[in-house]
Amino acid sequence: MSVLKITSLEKVLKTIQDGQPCAIPTETVYGLAASIDNPLAIRQVFALKERPVDHPLIIHASSIAMAERYGHFTELAIAIGQRFWPGPLTFILPKKDTVPAEVTGGLNTVGIRIPDHSLTRTLIKNHGTPLAAPSANKFGKTSPTTADHVLKDHAYTIPVLDGGPCSVGVESTILDLSVSPPAIRRLGAIGEEELREFIPTFGESQTPTSGTHKAHYAPSTSLLLSANIEDDSRRLSKQGLKIATIRLMNSDQYAQILYAKLRELDSLGVDVLIAEQPHNDTLGRAVLDRLSRASVGAPNLGDL
Ligand code: TXA
Ligand code: MG
Repeated sequence: MSVLKITSLEKVLKTIQDGQPCAIPTETVYGLAASIDNPLAIRQVFALKERPVDHPLIIHASSIAMAERYGHFTELAIAIGQRFWPGPLTFILPKKDTVPAEVTGGLNTVGIRIPDHSLTRTLIKNHGTPLAAPSANKFGKTSPTTADHVLKDHAYTIPVLDGGPCSVGVESTILDLSVSPPAIRRLGAIGEEELREFIPTFGESQTPTSGTHKAHYAPSTSLLLSANIEDDSRRLSKQGLKIATIRLMNSDQYAQILYAKLRELDSLGVDVLIAEQPHNDTLGRAVLDRLSRASVGAPNLGDL
């Protein structure tokens, strides 16, 4: 089996322009990218990811001027974009006709962000149009935060632009600016506190979002979210169970290592992963959100 690992921007650009999906680095997680104006390649992304076709993709632009060709930006959207882009924040905006239906799963809105990774921004800038990209994991599984994760998830069949380990480590915050008042639809590194100067009051949003399913990001080992890791470890070990733990750390670090750690511990063949409850700050809440969904999707702990 040949290991396809493309490190040169030129080769990745050519591959994308030839209509073949490639994995790209971002500051949050790796994405599986196709050109926004190649519906066939976009369909291939859905197939590779085993994702239902009505789940919309985020488009990744290299500048606000490029993003404005695809979404209707209000003055508020421009101001927030100028403050937080490039960065881990996705806007949901009313879409323009330039966005093909394949990207949005038939919705009249589009998700847009400018990723904070210079390799990927250069790739998009040189390509000239945005790249549509979901996280590069298989549907419902843990997102990849290194090139190696992507290669393993896809049995070494997908070309990967290796941009190193992701610096944030959890997916972008999704801010729905198509509703009034705006609503946060997925927690990430930018939260209500950071956005408060632009949005004094947040609303609730209705439309379903794939990362907001109750069970998601699931490892295949049982996962226990613990507020008291010493007691839980002792209790489960006493029952003869093999355990592995993720200890509390500052939220930047916790987010950064979360998915790599879940994958690593998952491969150890233990009975239970115990993750210590993160701090109650913006990124800590994003980590808690992912851990809660992962523990729902993981095999049941029964009556332990
Ligand atoms: O950090 C991220 O956002 C990563 C990197 C690669 O940019 N991408 C990512 O994509 O997490 P994905 O497809 O795994 O998650 C995108 C989420 C999904 O839950 C999708 O339903 C939602 O964004 N989304 C995209 N477009 C939308 C739209 N028009 N309306 C509502 N939700 C949308
Ligand atoms: Mg995802």
